[in-house]
Amino acid sequence: MFKSTFVLRSMAGFMLALVCTLPVWADEIYAEVKRGQEIAPVPLQIPADVNPISVYFGSYLVEAVATCNSCHSNKEYTAINNPFEGKPKKVNATCYLNGGQSFGSGIVSANITPDKTGKPAGITFKTFKNLMRTGHDPRDPGTLLQVMPWDGFQNMTEASLKAMYDYLSSIPSLPTGGNSPC
Ligand code: HEC
Repeated sequence: MFKSTFVLRSMAGFMLALVCTLPVWADEIYAEVKRGQEIAPVPLQIPADVNPISVYFGSYLVEAVATCNSCHSNKEYTAINNPFEGKPKKVNATCYLNGGQSFGSGIVSANITPDKTGKPAGITFKTFKNLMRTGHDPRDPGTLLQVMPWDGFQNMTEASLKAMYDYLSSIPSLPTGGNSPC
């Protein structure tokens, strides 16, 4: 008798906590989507079959959380816009996420802008997800990516991975960066 009253009370407490905190989380997720829309540093062209909310959330993850562009660009900021030199921050859109940064031992970051068919890095979501979860190089499945921090990204939820993929599908396509100045 006592035990069932206790269980009922705990359940009621849990339900109350859930009802009270849900609106807070809904507000927070809305704020992240809105922030993602605001901070996208390049004009977005969202494919017709892609949900804009997912794209904006992906922008938030790519720009504010995972900072993919710090590695996937050979010149993230121009000299006059480099925040590490105390200047006002502005991303260098001419080589946004087009790769070309060298990490030594022949490892160079990849171009992850959409290819001619609109697929980021030229890969499907299935391949992207597998890469993020396992670190297997899509072009050489026997090899593990060595610089790319997939060991952290692998814990992201499916919806977060899809949001990043959707965002990367909406950014401008660029030729791969490299030795040429950007
Ligand atoms: C610390 C640097 C670093 C960060 C941060 C980083 N990457 Fe990478 N990424 C690389 C490098 C370098 C490669 C190429 C191969 C390797 O790691 O050995 C790569 C490879 C990839 C590839 C494979 C592309 C191909 O064509 O083979 C994809 C896709 C990718 N990264 C997406 C992302 C995304 C999305 C983010 C942010 C969520 C991200 N990366 C953040 C360094 C990074």
